[in-house]
Formats: sequence, C-alpha cells, structure tokens
Amino acid sequence: MSRLIVVSNRVNPPNPADGESSTGGLAMALAAALREYSGIWFGWSGKTVPEFSGQLNMQRIDGVTVATVDLEETDYQEYYNGYANKTLWPLFHYRVDLTAYDRSFGQGYDRVNRLFAETLLPLIEPDDIVWIHDYHLIPLARELRRLGVTNRIGFFLHIPWPAHQLVVTLPRHRQLVEALFDYDLIGFQTEESLQAFEGYVFSEVEGGKTDRGELVAFGKRTRAAAFPIGVDAQDFARLVDGDTARKVYDRMMAHSVFRKMVVGVDRLDYSKGLEERLIGFERFLHDHPELRREVMLLQIAPISRDEVEAYQDLRVRLDGLIGRINGAYAEMDFTPIRWVNRSYRRDELAGVYRASKAALVTPLRDGMNLVAKEFVAAQDPEDPGVLILSRFAGAARQMKDALIINPNSPEEVSDALDRALSMDLTERQRRWRTLFDNVQREDVTAWRDDFVSALKGESISDAATAPLPRPRVQSLDTAAKALKARNTEAQDVRA
Ligand code: ADP
Ligand code: F6P
Repeated sequence: MSRLIVVSNRVNPPNPADGESSTGGLAMALAAALREYSGIWFGWSGKTVPEFSGQLNMQRIDGVTVATVDLEETDYQEYYNGYANKTLWPLFHYRVDLTAYDRSFGQGYDRVNRLFAETLLPLIEPDDIVWIHDYHLIPLARELRRLGVTNRIGFFLHIPWPAHQLVVTLPRHRQLVEALFDYDLIGFQTEESLQAFEGYVFSEVEGGKTDRGELVAFGKRTRAAAFPIGVDAQDFARLVDGDTARKVYDRMMAHSVFRKMVVGVDRLDYSKGLEERLIGFERFLHDHPELRREVMLLQIAPISRDEVEAYQDLRVRLDGLIGRINGAYAEMDFTPIRWVNRSYRRDELAGVYRASKAALVTPLRDGMNLVAKEFVAAQDPEDPGVLILSRFAGAARQMKDALIINPNSPEEVSDALDRALSMDLTERQRRWRTLFDNVQREDVTAWRDDFVSALKGESISDAATAPLPRPRVQSLDTAAKALKARNTEAQDVRA
C-alpha cells in the first residue's frame, strides 16, 4: 500500500505522554490515517532559530512518524504572522479591513513554501501520496512539482474560500489560484466555498469544466469538491464517560447550581464573533431581568496568534466589554460572564460541554467549526443541551436542527438564548438526535477516507471526482484497488 504524507503548518500528533491532551479530532484522524498508511507528518516545529538549516527532526510518536523543521525569525514573521495570518486569514474570513497587502509577506510565504518543498523532497518515495493542509501551504505543490515530484498531491482548505470580489483584492490572486492547479485534488469545507472557487476560475481566468468534472485553467487541470470535515464523535462519546470528564461535569454542575450554564469555546479570534456574542448576551440580560440570576455564560477563549496586532486589539476590547457587562449586571454573589483564557484537555472540554444547557457557536465566518460538533457529540441523550449556531459557520449546512442565527444581530442572539433555555425536553431530544446522527455519520474518519479515496482516483459521490485523466504512478492504482477491496469487505462485514 502507498504511504501517506501529511503536511501542515502546525504538526500536533497525539502524545500518549499527555494522556487525553488538547490534541483535536483532526489531529487524531490524521494520526490514525498515518498509522494505517505508515506515513509521515511533516511541518513546522513551532520553533525559530537564527538561521534556517533545513535540518529535519524525526520522531516516532504513538506509531506516527513526525518530521519537523525549524524556521528562522524573518520567515516566521513574514510567512506565519505575515502572509498567513495578516493577509490570507482576514481576507478569507471577509475582513478586508484587517487585511495587510505587504509585498514582503508574499515573498516570505513563497520562500517558506519553497523551503518546505526542498526539505520534504528527500522524504517522498515514488508511490507516496501527499496531502497538504490549509492556507499556509497553498503553493507547496507548485514548489514540489518544480522539483520534479509527480506523485499525487491533494490539498484541503480548512477555512472558507471567499467570494470572487474579495479574492481579487489580493495583489497576486492569479498566482495563488494558479498554484492550486498543481494539485490533483482540491478539497473545500462546503459547496459554498467550492462554488466561490469555481466562480473565480470561470469569470476571472476564463477557466472551464470538462464533462468529467475537471476544472481547466492556466493550461492545467485539477479536480475540486466539498469534503465537510467532522469530529471523532465516538471518541468524544467515550471521553465524556471517562473519570476526568465526569469530575469536570460534577464541578461545573456544582458551580452553576440554580443557574443554567451557557458555554462558548473558541480560539480568541475576530472571526469567532466573540464581541457580537457578548453584546447579544448583554441584550439577553437587559431584555430578561427575571432570568438574570438564572443564567451564566462561560466563555473559554485561549489566546491565539498574539503577535498579530488585530488579535492583541481584540483581546483588549473583549477584556473591556466583559468588564463592562459584568460591572453592570453582577451582584455580590453572582457574575454573569466567566471569562477564561486557557486551553483544556479534550476530556475536560467534554465534561464542560455536557454540563452546559446551551452552546453559543456564533462565528462571523468559519470554514466549518468543530466546537459545534463536539458540543453535540458530548450531550446526554436523556437531557441534551441546545446548540445555537451561526448561519456563517460551515457547520450550519449540515446542522440544520440547531437554532440557526445571524450573529450580527444582538436580538437574534438574545431570542435564541431565551428559546434554548426554555425549550421542552421533547424538542431538545428531537433536535439533538438529528444533529447527533449527522455528527456521527459525517465524522472525521468519513472525511479522511472520502478525501484519500478521491485523491487516489477512486470514485466518490461527487461528480467532480471522476477518474484522473493521467494516472501518474502505476502502483497507486494497485493500492487503490486494494483499498477498494478492503472497503467492500468492510461494508460486507457491517452489512
Ligand atoms: P479553529 O480551527 O478556527 O480554531 P474549530 O472550532 O474548527 O476552530 O476548532 C477548534 C478546536 O480547538 C476544537 O477541536 C476545540 O475543541 C479546540 N479548542 C478550542 N478551545 C480550546 C481550549 N480552550 N482548550 C482546548 N481545546 C480547545
Ligand atoms: O482551522 C484553521 C487553523 O488555522 C488551523 O490550520 C490551525 O492549526 C488552527 O486554526 C489554529 O491556528 P494556529 O495554528 O495559527 O494557532
């Protein structure tokens, strides 16, 4: 069987020494895929050094081979803080006002992608398939192709692909999109992102689509499809029954006695709509004086990308806003908002989710949002909490039984809270059951398998994934057949 090489900016495989550490569902799924395909996970170590040496640090962690490389300070500033997080992240989350169009950032981005390609090259064997993740690494396939790599290479974008009119504000938008055509397969979170990408290709660069569903532009062809990412629902259900989750659950219940706890869990990021959420909660407190003492909001928001000014400014504004709301509505024995800026283990989060009567997942723009799915996965079927979800999260496409709101409207946030906290058990159970079935069915394993099969040229449900016109490596076909046979076998067993 061919090996799988996963590449992402951040490399975070599960570490058994950490117990149920903060490693997310995505990392768990990728690690599982890597074990299955005996592959490698390559990326940045998270460390900076005075000068880039290209030296690989290879480690074996819980059956997964991890290869990391250090970056030098200028690369880190221009590539990670710069082009990735001051240019692409805000632009792709519709924040043109926060987007920096600085030429040196683009140069740093290209440079690091080139360095990544050169460092990764010696690790790639002819039969390997390569799966590259997220906006940090869009040009990586181009750089690998320049070095002569002909393996199948797939790309998955974890964040939204924005509307055409936003993409063209980027000075080098053509170059960025052309780089995507060096992949054999491009995966998006939602149909909406896929359509926005196709819209750009059709109207900006006069690209087209073949009757086999391939996109053609820049004299190249590729395939693109939506692969909504999921969580490891089974693992979450297992975690919630563990000792740590139970202890946290008991503690949270004791701390919210006589009150209903509403939870928010997000990186401290302007895309998550934290300010709008808090203003909506303030509106709720204002509109429902009779409920004030019965409800509290626990907002967990670990600090993120704190070298980027927009994140520092947001933090200052949030500290002020929470101080103001708590000052106005707190009593001697009661504070409406609990504000926590740290990370927790996954099993601790599971306990918190389960103790919450509602979750506010209200991003202004989000590729998917895994917290929404984790919250559902952690609920007690006998007494489930209610998910309040922004229509602008990718997850809203699949999670229609949540209370779907526009996070920009304080009234909608307030009304949804009122509705969630007074919803009767039958409705809560009905909504939760549909949500849970979806979270369980479209889980992270299904996402991973769909993507890898499509990259190998096996058919999946989407028309855009017709067989590749140019199978490059013969043994991939053999491996694809083996996988298909195994899948059929597994289906027979399940049947
Ligand atoms: P993003 O990828 O933009 O951060 P997602 O909601 O898709 O947003 O994924 C966030 C992941 O990070 C989830 O798996 C969530 O459990 C995890 N996470 C968020 N906040 C914390 C926290 N305080 N401690 C531990 N994990 C967290
Ligand atoms: O989901 C989007 C994403 O940017 C991931 O690629 C990333 O690992 C995560 O959010 C956290 O961001 P960062 O790696 O910048 O801390």
